[in-house]
Amino acid sequence: MPCIREEAKTAAAVGTVPKESTSPPRRHLPTPLLLLHLFALLFANPALVRAHALPRERTDMSRNKIAIVTGANQGIGYQIAKQIARSGDFATVILACRRLDAGVAAAREMMTTTTTASSTPSSGCAVEAMELDISVPKSIADFASAFANAHGDRLDVLVNNAAMAFKGHDPTPFGLQSRPTIDTNYRGTVGITGALLPYLKRAGPGSRVVNVASRSGALRILRSDEKRGLFIRPESVEALSGAMDAFVADAEAMGERNGFAGTNYGMSKCGVIAYTALMSRLCPEVGWSAMCPGHCATSMSSWTGSRTAAEGADTAAWLATTDDASAYKSGGFFADRARVPW
Ligand SMILES: NC(=O)c1ccc[n+]([C@@H]2O[C@H](COP(=O)([O-])OP(=O)(O)OC[C@H]3O[C@@H](n4cnc5c(N)ncnc54)[C@H](OP(=O)(O)O)[C@@H]3O)[C@@H](O)[C@H]2O)c1
Repeated sequence: MPCIREEAKTAAAVGTVPKESTSPPRRHLPTPLLLLHLFALLFANPALVRAHALPRERTDMSRNKIAIVTGANQGIGYQIAKQIARSGDFATVILACRRLDAGVAAAREMMTTTTTASSTPSSGCAVEAMELDISVPKSIADFASAFANAHGDRLDVLVNNAAMAFKGHDPTPFGLQSRPTIDTNYRGTVGITGALLPYLKRAGPGSRVVNVASRSGALRILRSDEKRGLFIRPESVEALSGAMDAFVADAEAMGERNGFAGTNYGMSKCGVIAYTALMSRLCPEVGWSAMCPGHCATSMSSWTGSRTAAEGADTAAWLATTDDASAYKSGGFFADRARVPW
């Protein structure tokens, strides 16, 4: 079995170690040993943080459940991961972050707030940071293989939260914002989901994907029924991705006056909502849902939103943890814990 440093060198998705080498502290450890153990966990391997809340009884079903949240070092993703970790249903939550140092810091902070929040029962959930840039196919492949090496062949929940948006004042022309926006928000979401789908299928009933989308991706942004038709019921992921390609080509040629829609970000989220519904038809053994967090005060919105990131995270965390299959297996679009029209 490779040592931690070796594994970090060979798998770009650093921050994973075999479970046995990071077993959680036990209550009967003498205090100095416990402190040493915690110190080793936090500082000896900066690529990994496993944040252990105080142990608590968990049901057999929940003992090995694993969730991955992308873009979880800040904003809504951080809060989704925290709410899942606090649910008591999961053994491990992985913060998949393109800046590993930020992910490690977020995992440490989550550990602190999870263990000290007196109003919240501790969950006994480990929190880990792993490196993932969803806009880079190699990073996706490395992440998937590092995940499998460290955690085996099953994944219970994937929350696709990572996304980007150009600021309103960004001088980059509309046509040049198109490809990076679609590559990250749509293609990155499809890419990481495809790479992890075998593990979600193996986890069996209850496994699911929750896609963080936006009302900006409403069908009405499309300028014609013909274009709407491409998104309402595409026959395959290839067909849907072809429609997204056509949008990018159109936007690069004609800018905002392209034939699809006057928003790159909205188009990326429209694609994510369409992908969610499509996958629910193509792969019904896994649960699929999309959601809008509402306008939240985060870096993406330049802190202008009226909701907190924690409030915005609520519906995604609910979809990730609920037993209500009519919600998490619906392929539908949700806001405030209710299905809403797309
Ligand atoms: N805020 C709102 O009002 C609002 C409204 C509707 C929907 N949403 C959606 O909510 C989700 C979270 O947004 P937020 O407001 O929390 O934004 P945020 O604070 O900017 O967080 C976005 C997260 O995504 C990560 N990310 C960006 N590109 C990535 C990539 N290529 N690979 C991996 N991670 C990447 C960011 O990493 P870095 O820290 O490294 O940049 C960050 O962790 C997004 O899907 C967004 O579209 C937000």
